[in-house]
Amino acid sequence: MQKKSKFVLGAIILLSAFLFVYIGYSVFTQSVEVKNQSQNQSREVLTIVDLPQIEIARNMSVDQAIQNRRSVRRFSATPLTLKDVSQLLWAAQGITDFERNFRTTPSAGGVFPMEIYLVAGDDGVQELDAGIYHYNPFNHTLEMIVRGDMRYNLSQAAHQQKWVNDAPISLIITGNYLKMQDRYSDKNLSTRFVDMEAGHIGENIYLEAVSRGLGTVAIGSFYDDQMINLLKLPANETPIYIYPVGKKDN
Ligand SMILES: Cc1cc2nc3c(=O)[nH]c(=O)nc-3n(C[C@H](O)[C@H](O)[C@H](O)COP(=O)(O)O)c2cc1C
Repeated sequence: MQKKSKFVLGAIILLSAFLFVYIGYSVFTQSVEVKNQSQNQSREVLTIVDLPQIEIARNMSVDQAIQNRRSVRRFSATPLTLKDVSQLLWAAQGITDFERNFRTTPSAGGVFPMEIYLVAGDDGVQELDAGIYHYNPFNHTLEMIVRGDMRYNLSQAAHQQKWVNDAPISLIITGNYLKMQDRYSDKNLSTRFVDMEAGHIGENIYLEAVSRGLGTVAIGSFYDDQMINLLKLPANETPIYIYPVGKKDN
């Protein structure tokens, strides 16, 4: 082959490689954005509650929160403030980058298959009716799904763990395994990704609780069917964790 045609061939190969990488990257970022916009699960919403604006406080270092984190199972009846609830939900799944809808916790492929629910007891939270709420991170609101104090039902679903009934509130993490599998077809891998993500959220809840002078405990033991009925979960949403939160009772 002549020198000139070798050069032309080399240039074509280089250009093709560049185009291949560029198109691949565009498709990847586009699919991340499309997935993030869709929060298309249908829920029957009774009322919507605006949450207080997020405040980035500097009252405790991350090191101190990690050092002080301990599971708490004895809660006082002291109600939480709506601000406490707002900050806890934000720590769990709040949006921190509105351009890409990225959140406080990492998500494999930017799929974000997780949802957070709040179970608030009678006088569990100042200025909030007792009930079960879904957290909407896109506008930082609570959507009431069930009215009334459902803590007893929640504790029954959690194998009668008493602390779930005692805590003024609980946060519940659910995951949509099929949403992750749409992106990562290997079932073992996509399942692992959702479970890992629940772990990230759980640790944020622990640390946010500690930094606000509150306590919590990760609850992984419960009856799936009872949880699904109680929270009226849409198809494909699986309960993964319960986090009762409250002031520690000494
Ligand atoms: C996956 C997982 C499931 C758990 N499930 C429960 C549970 O159902 N009930 C409970 O009281 N504690 C539960 N825990 C909390 C552990 O018992 C607790 O983290 C452990 O005793 C260590 O104590 P520490 O969190 O204070 O360090 C769970 C923890 C993890 C990580």
